[in-house]
Amino acid sequence: MPARILVIDDDAAFREMLCEALVSRGFDPVGVGSAEEGVARAKAGDFDLVLTDVMLPGMDGIEGLSKIKEAAPGCEVIVMTGYAAREKALEAVKLGAYDFFAKPFSLAEMEVVIRRALERQELLGELRRLKSAMTSGKGPIIVGQSQVMRTVVDMVRRVAPLDSTVLITGESGSGKEVVADAIQALSKRAEMPFVKVNCAAIPENLLESELFGHEKGAFTGAVAQKKGKFELASKGTIMLDEIGDMPLFLQPKLLRAVEQKQIERVGGSKPIDIDIRIIAATNQDLKTLAAEKKFRADLYYRLSVAAIPLPPLRDRKEDLPLLVGHFLERIGPRVGINLRGVSREGMQLLFDYDWPGNVRQLANLLERAAIMSSGEVLTAAEIARALDNPARPVVAACGPDAPDAPVEVAGNLRDTLQDMERNMIVAALHKAGGVQKDAARTLGVSPKNLWNKIQKHRIDAADYTD
Ligand SMILES: Nc1ncnc2c1ncn2[C@@H]1O[C@H](COP(=O)(O)OP(=O)(O)OP(=O)(O)O)[C@@H](O)[C@H]1O
Ligand SMILES: [Mg+2]
Repeated sequence: MPARILVIDDDAAFREMLCEALVSRGFDPVGVGSAEEGVARAKAGDFDLVLTDVMLPGMDGIEGLSKIKEAAPGCEVIVMTGYAAREKALEAVKLGAYDFFAKPFSLAEMEVVIRRALERQELLGELRRLKSAMTSGKGPIIVGQSQVMRTVVDMVRRVAPLDSTVLITGESGSGKEVVADAIQALSKRAEMPFVKVNCAAIPENLLESELFGHEKGAFTGAVAQKKGKFELASKGTIMLDEIGDMPLFLQPKLLRAVEQKQIERVGGSKPIDIDIRIIAATNQDLKTLAAEKKFRADLYYRLSVAAIPLPPLRDRKEDLPLLVGHFLERIGPRVGINLRGVSREGMQLLFDYDWPGNVRQLANLLERAAIMSSGEVLTAAEIARALDNPARPVVAACGPDAPDAPVEVAGNLRDTLQDMERNMIVAALHKAGGVQKDAARTLGVSPKNLWNKIQKHRIDAADYTD
């Protein structure tokens, strides 16, 4: 279906010329002569995009823009200014316009911008649909529309409401925890505890007591009775991450927990019934481990009854645009830039890359590129630089998404922090058009503090003045 475009301009000849040009380029335009009529049409009609003049009789284009954005937030607006009204155009962008054009403009150029705006809108719409479909707006979401990810989402939906044990497999960073979170969120146990244990991170000699608990006096140091994670997750779900690292000697106890829903505390003498759902995850090939007798075959078979294999990112690169949109939406507020996307050439670099670190690597890379970036669209050069510099971003490592796994240390903390501080200041100044007071507010520091930092980093604030 051709995209529906609302054209608002009081110059009838220009409006008609523009509408004709849009039709010839495959769009479906409707022209109106005032902002009042435009707002009414936008409210009633299903437009994908609005092109509006700024100087209009009655309500001006800026006010019209705000009203349209209010009535139809998903609709992108592009502003056309009649004379050198740069101030107005910038105001429009601040109010949520996608872009602006000074008349006269080239139609070819306008077409490129319209198509980009429509593409972005489609992605955002897709994200919104995914979000509401997965979790009715809250909680974890699995981003991906490739055939393989649709299959994953389908399996998640089917197994989530059951109490069966699930095994999630996939390379590091491919989203195993995201899938586990989605299963929990969509299960009957969503409101009950969700306890995660990284089997690889706990020393072998402590793991048994950590999982199953111990009785007082069970071993030296067991001064009191202690409940294990299985009991703590009672009526809820336990995630056994890195299950491939579960020591062989503990596997019979785990098998009993899976099959009979019974555990025994260390030093205990009677079994305890548990009401629990078990989700296991690993990036190892359990089948091979079982063949090599490094993992119990009976446990492997029991776990793999409901298995969800996650494909590596390199096998589903068609998900890249959606994933990029998803992460930029989250990274933008953190770095203080309204990130609109990645340039076409930058996107090509992402498609050409092999992604050994999968989705996590993509998220980290985008964050790094965004920190270094001075604009709202990440350029190929910024992406290339972030690809060349595999240091982990400190923001991601400290944020709520921080993985439990130890962060590999690359570079020196103080230098990295200084670099980040400088980049954040530059980004905030850029966003604030060089107004230090506004930049300070974005950064959450006092103007004086920002001034000192600007001196320290030898930043020339005038470079960012509009
Ligand atoms: N399909 C997805 N949609 C949205 N975010 C995703 C998706 N897959 C992965 N992520 C994000 O990528 C990062 C890594 O995902 P996750 O921790 O689930 O990977 P993992 O497979 O458990 O990795 P590891 O084996 O290292 O534990 C997280 O920040 C997660 O939010
Ligand atoms: Mg994980």
